[in-house]
Amino acid sequence: MHVPGPVLPALNSQALLKGQTALVTGASSGIGRAIALALGAAGADVIVNYVASPADAEAVAEAIRSGGRRAMTVQADVANEEQVLAMFASAVREFGTVDILVSNAGRECNAPFHEMSVADWDAVINVNLRGAFLCARSAVREFLRRGARPGISVAAGKIIFTSSVHEIIPWAGHVNYAASKGGLMLLMKSLAQEVSDKRIRVNSIAPGAIRTPINTAAWSTPEAYADLMKLVPYKRIGEPDEVGRAAAWLASDFADYIVGATLVIDGGMTLYPGFESGG
Ligand code: BGC
Repeated sequence: MHVPGPVLPALNSQALLKGQTALVTGASSGIGRAIALALGAAGADVIVNYVASPADAEAVAEAIRSGGRRAMTVQADVANEEQVLAMFASAVREFGTVDILVSNAGRECNAPFHEMSVADWDAVINVNLRGAFLCARSAVREFLRRGARPGISVAAGKIIFTSSVHEIIPWAGHVNYAASKGGLMLLMKSLAQEVSDKRIRVNSIAPGAIRTPINTAAWSTPEAYADLMKLVPYKRIGEPDEVGRAAAWLASDFADYIVGATLVIDGGMTLYPGFESGG
């Protein structure tokens, strides 16, 4: 069967995601917040998921509304099946459908391995991996129910997982986190392989060191920042907005042939910086 390529919209940021609805988990702060704002700026209506900070989520929604798009906040713990089902049900009720899921909610509970508690392990795996599964499952169900929306997007739906450079780089003291992101990598690829023929595009972004609350200790003092730069060939920290813009592009038809890929956004952190001087 011959499937034509997309007729691309003009390279106009407002038109990139025009007429589409995006649901972003963990969108009240950090990278999720930046992605929600970037998708709104690219023309999407946005469902801003949060778990614990309604005021921060509402501020994100308000900023999106002030740019002319619709936005609503929904509280849900992504690790909780009932809450995820209810979140998607309310998204579809209020906005008609969901075109883009950015499964972004994530957490760290760091500990030396011999001291890591089951609670530390479960907290990270439940949000980062089980949460990604539950949200992606609801999104795929909605994409299959609705089918393609010609004129809106050539794909029937898009899923972007926020992974990490730690789907590639092992991370001592963060074994639960690295395991969750390594698992997320094959969740993403296996799902992409399974649903691509339904024109559902599944990909990940893998940020490196980005200036967000999750890693304040790594950049907030000059000493910590200098140490961090030993790991970043490009010699600067990344800004949340840089990840947001990449996600908006990856969700758009400009990226229609990108399927099952991880877009690394890391200033070169995955380039074995220890070999910078020739090894
Ligand atoms: C982590 C950050 C860390 C970065 C680079 C991210 O996935 O959440 O805490 O700074 O990876 O190591």
